[in-house]
Amino acid sequence: MIYQLLPESPKSGPNHRRRFGSKAYCVAITSIVLYVVFVVLTGKAAETNRDGTIGSLNDSTAKDVSSSLVTDQSNQVLGHVENIVLLGERHSGTNWITQHLQDCFGSNIEVTPHYTRFKHWFQREELYKGAPNSVVVVALFRDPFDWVWAMKERPHHAHDHIGLPWLEFVTKPWMGKRGPHDRNITQMPGMKETVTCFSQFSFVEVMPCSKEDSPKVVGHADYKYELLHDGSERAYSSIIDLRKEKIENHLSTSSYNATRAFYPFRYEDLESNGTDLLLSLLKETTGIEPQCRSSKPKGTVKHKEVPQEYVSWMNKYIDWNVEARIGYFPRE
Ligand SMILES: *[C@@H]1O[C@H](CO)[C@@H](O)[C@H](O)[C@H]1NC(C)=O
Ligand SMILES: *[C@@H]1O[C@H](CO)[C@@H](O)[C@H](O)[C@H]1NC(C)=O
Ligand SMILES: *[C@@H]1O[C@H](CO)[C@@H](O)[C@H](O)[C@H]1NC(C)=O
Ligand SMILES: *[C@@H]1O[C@H](CO)[C@@H](O)[C@H](O)[C@H]1NC(C)=O
Repeated sequence: MIYQLLPESPKSGPNHRRRFGSKAYCVAITSIVLYVVFVVLTGKAAETNRDGTIGSLNDSTAKDVSSSLVTDQSNQVLGHVENIVLLGERHSGTNWITQHLQDCFGSNIEVTPHYTRFKHWFQREELYKGAPNSVVVVALFRDPFDWVWAMKERPHHAHDHIGLPWLEFVTKPWMGKRGPHDRNITQMPGMKETVTCFSQFSFVEVMPCSKEDSPKVVGHADYKYELLHDGSERAYSSIIDLRKEKIENHLSTSSYNATRAFYPFRYEDLESNGTDLLLSLLKETTGIEPQCRSSKPKGTVKHKEVPQEYVSWMNKYIDWNVEARIGYFPRE
């Protein structure tokens, strides 16, 4: 799998090369902090130019992606792109972009906020049953200062975090309570190990597990916390630890067998620059002409007004190495 940063920036920063198994991973954060990665599956670790990746298209065949075969330079057939998948945490613009991409591409290809699981949750490759190289992933990320603050203002699914002052919010372990149905599960021999919870999580990965223990709160959806996904049944000690692992997890979907192409975007760039770039990338990978108007650039995005102590706290405790992979940096 070849990753390529688009577009080339004349002032591009340092490149980091990593290897995940046999897949070459190349990331560059440009000085304009636009972070876009293009992925082509080739089965070989050779350099592949993206210009050579889409074959047998003509201007009028864009209607139906299944009419086009996508090949690499050696004409290895990659098969059809079957869907465009949106991933992203709560408050990261995923509703907006899902709706937008459904308007643009939805009459020709499935656009869905589900990959191996629903868009917000930890993804797990083994759960996906689709064909290899068939999914185009758009992963959205939001500025950490704005995102944590938005989660504080409205902690979707995280009912035990509603209404907390910021310091309590960011230092409270990311967990809820188990109810009577969950307790029953723990009391039945063998049940805890075999039961399946929402989104095919296991009992030790989420809290609560039982649907009956997961009431809805108006404006905050139902009650769901993800725990560490190491089987220990321990909770993240803070929302920022959840964020770090979620970023890593969503970035890792780029190397899934089913992933044909992977486009990470910052929410702020889509707002301020509009969606032309995103649409043209998707047009190129799927061969489908977008049937919509792109969202127009809105200029600079306003950040949330937050206390200086919060900024200092975030500067100190956020994992800035992971944030740098998606183009976010500490604030002055
Ligand atoms: C485009 O390709 C399709 C399938 O190969 C063909 O039927 C159609 O006539 C072509 N259209 C044009 C304008 O070349
Ligand atoms: C991905 O593909 C490789 C090579 O075909 C295979 O060995 C591996 O089991 C696949 N991984 C998953 C999670 O399906
Ligand atoms: C828990 O199990 C007991 C015994 O089987 C049963 O009587 C009770 O209704 C169960 N409670 C819930 C909430 O399912
Ligand atoms: C996207 O928006 C950011 C923030 O407004 C800006 O700095 C950057 O230059 C823009 N990138 C492109 C490619 O237009």
